[in-house]
This record gives sequence, structure tokens and C-alpha cells, in this order.
Amino acid sequence: MHVPTWIARKRDGEELSPAEIRALIRGYTSGEVPDYQMAAFAMAVYFKGMTAVETAALTRAMMDSGDCFTHRPGPRPVVDKHSTGGIGDKISLVLAPLVACAGCRVPMVSGRGLGITGGTLDKLESIPGFNVRMSMKEASAQLEEIGVVMMGQTERFCPADKKLYALRDVTGTVPSIPLITASIMSKKMAETLDRLVLDVKYGTGAFMRTRAEAERLASEMVAVGTEMGVEVHAVLHPMSEPTGRAVGNALEVIEAIECLDGGGPEDLRRITLVLAEKIAGVSMAELERLLDDGSARRKLDEIVAAQGGNPADLPRLAQIHRAEVVREVPAPTTGVVARVDAGMIGQAALQLGAGRAKASDGVDFAVGFDRLVKSGESVHAGQPLCRIHARTAVDFDMAEALFSRAVEISTH
Ligand code: URA
Repeated sequence: MHVPTWIARKRDGEELSPAEIRALIRGYTSGEVPDYQMAAFAMAVYFKGMTAVETAALTRAMMDSGDCFTHRPGPRPVVDKHSTGGIGDKISLVLAPLVACAGCRVPMVSGRGLGITGGTLDKLESIPGFNVRMSMKEASAQLEEIGVVMMGQTERFCPADKKLYALRDVTGTVPSIPLITASIMSKKMAETLDRLVLDVKYGTGAFMRTRAEAERLASEMVAVGTEMGVEVHAVLHPMSEPTGRAVGNALEVIEAIECLDGGGPEDLRRITLVLAEKIAGVSMAELERLLDDGSARRKLDEIVAAQGGNPADLPRLAQIHRAEVVREVPAPTTGVVARVDAGMIGQAALQLGAGRAKASDGVDFAVGFDRLVKSGESVHAGQPLCRIHARTAVDFDMAEALFSRAVEISTH
């Protein structure tokens, strides 16, 4: 194993063999390959890319760096959804219980928020007592019992990805399509799925700024998953404005519960149903029924109870997490909302404390936005455009200033 040669070859745009990639990842996971060499390798990949064969080998090597789920054979398909991340994206909170109700098993391993994008684990942890740190054994048992588990990456789950993602985060090498593909797909493939749907976002509130970039990422992820024997679907969604009307941890859980109660914002319900239909193996009408008749909502209660929370807390989340300053922002003028910029709202939510600037930061469950206007809606001067939940008046002022720049009202 001569790592400097591999780095130099990648730097010069050559293709490494699957065996070389596997040895590199094995060495990095064991600590034999130091961070500085892996950082140089990641930067070489950032500039030179990888072939499809290399990306598949990297995915497999990262998946094999730890344990994979083993599922009991049975008629219930094992399925999941992955989103490349956005602002106000609480779709997993609705989709996982919904798809479990449709007769699937959903071993959903999610991540935390970083930068402007939120994370499912942070949202779940706004439910008092909710435990996302489960062993694979506990997770498998719950999956068989209630058909769904929502958890974080364990020490033994794709450890190579855990280490490499943290390194990429501090070396400017996150936005590389082969590295993102291998990172996401290694975790999803370690769930040992039958079907996977990828929600690939693009726009100001997403990793991928343009639809063309999102298409490239989607096609690489689909190719890797298909090559590994999984039925993979990708759906592209714009992330130019937040999903739904709430951004912030507890505020998003509240909105997800509204959707599970058969209500909630139209876009949240629609996107969830479109994604769920790709993997659930039942009709759209059946999925709608499961949302509207309370089945999916009861499944969320089951998840919460199984993972250490109290379902009776769900309707009380707004009281449990109450920010000191909760105020509306009035429309400055009458007109039609032309733009609600997801990236800027994500930035404001981050500064309010809803997200983390670096991986070691904590998050504030209470703060953020709700009752957000959507583009295309008519507003009158003075009518509320959103409500900001802040810890202090100074924070409110900061968020209001950013929000005012994020929203454009057309007066003709
Ligand atoms: N999410 C991941 O899990 N990995 C990436 O590389 C980017 C987003």
C-alpha cells in the first residue's frame, strides 16, 4: 500500500482500481492512513472526479467498513427515503410512519443538521426523551415489531463515512458529486434495502444550486444503488423556498404532525405522497387514506413510545419549547409574494440557533419560523408574512432583517 502514489495518480486524473480504493478506505478506517493523506485524496477527487466504477467501489468500501442491517426474510419490503437536505424539510417525519403503515419496514438512519440545512435527528430530539442512539440489535428488533425505526448512525454503521464526512467538512471537500454519492449511498446500502427513493433538492436552500447539478447527483446515486441490487428512484424537487410553512426543530415536528393528522401545508403533503408512492407498493389513494384516517399519526405515536418518548407530549410541543420572543412580521406592502428565499431563511434560522455552524454545536429546539407565506399568495399591507420565534429581541431583529430580504412582494 503506497498512499502517496494513489493520491498522485488521482491528482493526475487516473483511475484507481476497486482494490486500491478498498485498501485506502480500510487503512483510513483503522487509522493507518492519516487525515492529511485522506484530505489530499479527497481534494484530488474534488478536482478530478471519479469514474462510475471508482464511485461504486468507494461506496462499497465505506459500506463494508462497519455493520450492515440483516433483516428477517418476509413479505414486508424494506424501504427508505433519503433527502439531500433543504430548509423546512420535515418529510421523513411524515413519510416513515406513513410507509410503515402501508406494510413496509423502514430502517431510517438519518443525520443531524449542519449549516443552513436541518437534520431529522435534531427534529426528533425535540420530542422529550426521544432516543435516536440505538444499537443495530435494538433497531432490528423495533423494525420487526412496529415496522419502523428512526435513528442515528452508530459507531459501527459506516464508520469510514463518519470519519471522512467530518474531514471533508473542514477541508472544503463536501461539494463533490462522487464523494456525496458514496457518502449517502454507503449509508443507505448498509440499511440492506429492497427499494429506496432519493429526494434530490436544488436551489438556494440546497447543496446543489442548479437542476443540472442535481440531475448529475441523482443519476450517479441511482447508478450506484442499481449496481448494488436495490430498486432506486430519484425525484428532483426545487428548494428555492422552504418546504411547508415552518423552519426550526420543534416547529417542524408540529407541522409534520399536522400533516399526519390529514392537514398541514399542501406542498409538504404532496411531496411526501409522491416520494412514498415510489417505495410503498400501494396506490396514492391508499397512502392518502392512511394519512387522513389517522393510521400514520398513530404509527408516529408508536415510534415515539418505542424510542423513549411520550406520545402525549406531541400535542404539547409548542408549550414544551416556547421561545421568549414570538412575534409576527407584517407585510410592508400589498401585492403577491414573488419569492421566499430558502437559503436566506435557513441562514436566519441558523443564526437564531435552530441549526449548527459546526458539527460539535448544539441546537435550540424552540426557535425558528412558522406561518410562513408561500410564493403566489396575495397579501395586504400589515398582514403577517411569518412568525419568528427568538430567544431575545436582538435575535428577533436580526432574523426579521434577514427575512425582509428573503421575501419579495410584487405590487403589479
Ligand atoms: N449528506 C451526507 O450524508 N453526505 C454528504 O456527503 C453530503 C450530504
